[in-house]
Amino acid sequence: MVIEDVEALLREKRVFEPSVSFKEQANIKNEDVYKKASEDLESFWAENAEKLHWYKKWDKVLEWNLPYAKWFLNGKINACYNCVDRHIKEKGNKAAIIWEGELGETRVLTYIDLYREVNKFANVLRSIGVTRNDVVTIYMPMIPELVIAMLACARIGVPHSVVFSGFSASALQVRINDAGSKFLITVDGYYRRGNVVNAKDTVDEALKNTNVEKVIVYKRVGNQINLVENRDLWWHELMKDVPLYCEPVQADSEDLLFIMYTSGTTGKPKGVMHTTGGYMVGVNTTTRYIFDIKDNDIFWCTADIGWITGHSYIVYGPLSNCATILMYEGAPDYPSFDRFWEIIEKYKVTIFYTAPTAIRTFMKWGDEWVKKHDLSSLRLLGTVGEPINPDVWVWYYNTIGNGKCPIVDTWWQTETGMVLITPLPGITKLKPGSATFPFPGIVADVYDDNGNPMPPNEKGNLVIKTPWPSMLRGLYKDPERYVETYWSRYKDAYLTGDGAAKDEDGYFWLMGRMDDVLKVSGHRIGTMEVESAIVSHEKVAEAAVVGMPHEIKGESIFAYVILKEGIQPSKELEDDIKEHVKKTMGPIARPDNIVFVSDLPKTRSGKIMRRILRSLLTGGELGDVTTLRDPSIVDELKEKVKEKLGKT
Ligand code: WTA
Repeated sequence: MVIEDVEALLREKRVFEPSVSFKEQANIKNEDVYKKASEDLESFWAENAEKLHWYKKWDKVLEWNLPYAKWFLNGKINACYNCVDRHIKEKGNKAAIIWEGELGETRVLTYIDLYREVNKFANVLRSIGVTRNDVVTIYMPMIPELVIAMLACARIGVPHSVVFSGFSASALQVRINDAGSKFLITVDGYYRRGNVVNAKDTVDEALKNTNVEKVIVYKRVGNQINLVENRDLWWHELMKDVPLYCEPVQADSEDLLFIMYTSGTTGKPKGVMHTTGGYMVGVNTTTRYIFDIKDNDIFWCTADIGWITGHSYIVYGPLSNCATILMYEGAPDYPSFDRFWEIIEKYKVTIFYTAPTAIRTFMKWGDEWVKKHDLSSLRLLGTVGEPINPDVWVWYYNTIGNGKCPIVDTWWQTETGMVLITPLPGITKLKPGSATFPFPGIVADVYDDNGNPMPPNEKGNLVIKTPWPSMLRGLYKDPERYVETYWSRYKDAYLTGDGAAKDEDGYFWLMGRMDDVLKVSGHRIGTMEVESAIVSHEKVAEAAVVGMPHEIKGESIFAYVILKEGIQPSKELEDDIKEHVKKTMGPIARPDNIVFVSDLPKTRSGKIMRRILRSLLTGGELGDVTTLRDPSIVDELKEKVKEKLGKT
């Protein structure tokens, strides 16, 4: 969602304070934490780093050669050891993962169970020849084995690259090839709304053009699959005869922990790199401060582990705090609209973290689904992924939180690794729709295009001015793009790509992306990626994609398409192009609307004026169109859009 009406948002004046009882029990009760962190950033992070296990302490907390940061230099640490081994002695029988399958199956893995499985699987990886020079790609749905696979990689010091299981074969292939993976971990299939999704078929298709040598397949559904000789191996067979213990690698703080591909303004996905020490300190600390994690909490983050939210706040943050995580395999509306509330009641979930798009969907489904269940176990709510409308916030607060749970609206990105702008739930007075303040030690600001701070209540570019431990260390095999994307607009600050305004009380209000990145149902999608997918259709000559405001999804994908000479537009062709995008990228990228046009609004130098394409959809000011090569095209587009949206 891109918010243009800044004033309307800032008119929101409701304030919600944490209750006395929440405050009293909160991990962070004292505002001094902000002061302490800003006065001595390095001691703040060093103190928090002490909460983790280190084989060898760091020599130096931070080396900051803008834009390159190194944290906890020469420290030796293992992420898996921190998430598993160190909890075994005292909390071995505590549930680490409570898993609910889509069909209603339950599995509970204690920390000892997790320890055993991770150790064995780490040995499996070694047995098939995985070394520290590899990147292991993981393409799995929301099952505990995904966590086991990630932690096993971390245990032997091998970076993983988890690819969201909803991505198509070609999207998977691009990511495997960019990472140069020789090893892939996947499943036979999984359930989605009661149907079996044949993930292995997608994998087989993706592997036609890669250097993958070995594939480990976990049997989730037992569907008919094709096993390629000498390449495909069953998880359960490999696990039969491996030793129960695998010594964790003493990784350097700056060793790569994982790569996570995300969308940017060009067609090619970016491999965001996160390293071990700093990332672990960042997510461990924020889980304690923001999610107020306690020993008896049941923490449910509804994100998919295929995205950064799942990496940081299902796997590494909570497990390194010895928390119990809830993991759900399926869809929120299967078999009925109250599945989430049923799960909260069934497992007595205490902390619930989800996306605004999901909350808007729940609102639409109606309060009666919520009211059927006892949600009194909840004590803290969170949101992430896109701006939350104040009224949706208030609904979440009253209807799900029963007016007693603080809401942490957490702003962050794949690149930041951890939450950067957020309330601290025992301290912050909340304003609905505002992510409130930068986390202790983070300095954020709102700049105009020339790098001057904006006056209060005016929209500009959100920037971050201090380094933080879990900041990305670069883009995989693309060092120049790191500097160009994040550090070239301003010399002294990290460019987030988001629009924001700061009000007179210092609250940050996030306004959506300022670049060509969309947030569709919370999923991050580059317009260029969708355009490339559309243009790869044999009948298409050119395409331009923009986001259209959407009540539930935040934004939906709207495509203007020019067909090749002699091709006639038709409803069938429109559907065919939509399906083609779905097949090329995955269902999340399927355009909602396509209009066929004869040309696009281009400047004389050939640049497409997306501003106009967006304004046509919202009825906003078109602005100056005289610089267009052919200003008359605007009338045609207006007509086509009207025809399209009038009908839908
Ligand atoms: C958006 C997801 C407003 C933002 C963790 C950012 C948000 C992008 C919020 C990153 C929030 C995330 N309020 N917008 N609380 N949280 N965003 O990489 O536009 O999938 O740049 O990481 O999500 O998306 P990503």
